[in-house]
Amino acid sequence: MEIISSIKDMQNRSIMQGQNRQRIGLVPTMGALHEGHFSLIRKCRDVCDIVVVSIFVNPTQFGPNEDFAKYPRTFDKDCAAVEGLGGDIVFAPRSEEMYPEGFRTFAHVEGLTEGLCGAGRPGHFRGVTTVVLKLLNIVRPVLAVFGQKDAQQAIVLKRMVEDLNIPTKLLIAPVVREPDGLAMSSRNVYLTEEERAQAPSIFGALRDAREKYEKGERSGPKLKSAITERLSSVPLLKVEYVEVVTAGTLKSADQVETPTLCAVACRTVQSSTRLIDNIIIGGHL
Ligand code: PAJ
Repeated sequence: MEIISSIKDMQNRSIMQGQNRQRIGLVPTMGALHEGHFSLIRKCRDVCDIVVVSIFVNPTQFGPNEDFAKYPRTFDKDCAAVEGLGGDIVFAPRSEEMYPEGFRTFAHVEGLTEGLCGAGRPGHFRGVTTVVLKLLNIVRPVLAVFGQKDAQQAIVLKRMVEDLNIPTKLLIAPVVREPDGLAMSSRNVYLTEEERAQAPSIFGALRDAREKYEKGERSGPKLKSAITERLSSVPLLKVEYVEVVTAGTLKSADQVETPTLCAVACRTVQSSTRLIDNIIIGGHL
């Protein structure tokens, strides 16, 4: 496994692999890799000749009061994990090369980025779309793999790839969970013991909603209130939002008829950790 940090080296390498008709796959990450990331790397390994995992804690997607500085950084361990999974290249660019003096250009997806996580994190998705567009231009993969864990991110990126005619197929992989249901996240290390014990209620509330849907409930607002009510009884979780939206448009779903995203964001009371999770009912992403 090779570690590449120069953008030019990565670009040259991709052009060469492409000329040799090798199928390059990309798994973009911010490091602190866990089983959720591993599942994406395995998917990519299954279908591509060259697997590139990017590790870059992207400053432009963090707000001024967010956890950029304290975001967990475990680079050596991450590289060992990528190697163990059969990855070929870790691409880890330096921030000064990704965003040099004079950087002025951003990608912005309108209409899908203002609600849900975008409401509490202004500018977040602009940072995500910009860095992912840059990574796609540098690595030129035929396939890029993302997780449904960040469902809004996946929907926004799919829109960008389609709108800008980017010749990369996006694959969205299911959420990987701890045995008690908590969605795996690099941020789970911030949780206190008590918060960790209560955090699985987030998936519990979503699972209840799925059960209601399976028993015939089709009203979006009713499912939304059921999730909100269940979460409001968990002492160490403060709800940031609960949304039941049509997956394609991210607009409130009155009736669940097409694939519908039930999405939750909470902040924990003790460590102020932001946790997100979601399920899709009525179809797939
Ligand atoms: P990061 O949070 O490191 O996540 C990298 C990828 O792993 C994302 O596609 C995310 O959805 C996926 N992922 C995280 N936890 C997962 C889980 N429990 N199950 C399945 N997939 C999971 O998302 C980002 O980084 C950044 O925004 C990035 C796209 C790299 C741009 O900077």
